[in-house]
Amino acid sequence: MLQRNIEFPQIPGPIGVFDSGFGGLTVLRQIRELMPQYDYLYLGDNARTPYGTRSFEIVYKFTLQAVRYLFQMGCHLVILGCNTASAKALRSIQQNDLSKMDSERRVLGVIRPTAECIGHITKTRHVGIMATPGTIRSCTYDMEIAKLYPDIIVTGEACPMWVPLVENFEFDSPGADYFVEKSINQLLERDKEIDSIILGCTHYPLLQKKILRYTPQNVQLIFQGDYVAHSLQDYLLRHPEMKSRLTLGGTVRYLTTDQPEQFNQSANIFMGQPIQATRIMLE
Ligand code: DGL
Repeated sequence: MLQRNIEFPQIPGPIGVFDSGFGGLTVLRQIRELMPQYDYLYLGDNARTPYGTRSFEIVYKFTLQAVRYLFQMGCHLVILGCNTASAKALRSIQQNDLSKMDSERRVLGVIRPTAECIGHITKTRHVGIMATPGTIRSCTYDMEIAKLYPDIIVTGEACPMWVPLVENFEFDSPGADYFVEKSINQLLERDKEIDSIILGCTHYPLLQKKILRYTPQNVQLIFQGDYVAHSLQDYLLRHPEMKSRLTLGGTVRYLTTDQPEQFNQSANIFMGQPIQATRIMLE
């Protein structure tokens, strides 16, 4: 059912978490584990997933629609639980759109908090990034890491098959073995000194078993959910004015742009609990 609001509610509301599909649920799960006291509103643009192979303009347009929708639903703070959206849309939304929409509201991404952790983890100062083609092409990780740790050499490997494997529930299949092994080998071939790999896509925790199987033991894997959750906790400590605009009911609601029945079934696997989503339309 189409739900449309004209103005953004000014009363306190839930934290919004957005992703192109199910991937952001891995981030939501970690955030809720750390901060169960808040209310959350998850929005998955499942009807238009994946974003990873789409152009900058399209990802920006879709992400802006989602942010506006979450603001209309009462969110004062929205987390883009999607690296592709964080890479291609976050900066434009922060710099150009927020002031026009509501300068008091905030949108945060997942790339900066992940980039921040890497300086303390890598010893060789050679780091690999595995992500969607869109995230890799944007070079956002390279730029964020260069700002923080100019001595680190970053090598990105686009993994176009990994999100479709997850979205199609093939993450435990032999097909997944083939594509996971291939991409990891390709990355490590390109820079043999890599000692840490950032998994820069929120879908990838579902491939964890396979990724662990094909990663040499001397290479550290960085799953970003925990870093994003702690960074948000820290942000809220530093921004009491935002904290006061968040409701504390401990609830979570789910919105999807595709069939709710399908979403419920799949989201179950990501969240490990029964889920009842509502269908909405973004435009
Ligand atoms: N989960 C999204 C990310 O973190 C990517 C999924 C997609 O390609 O839509 O980049």
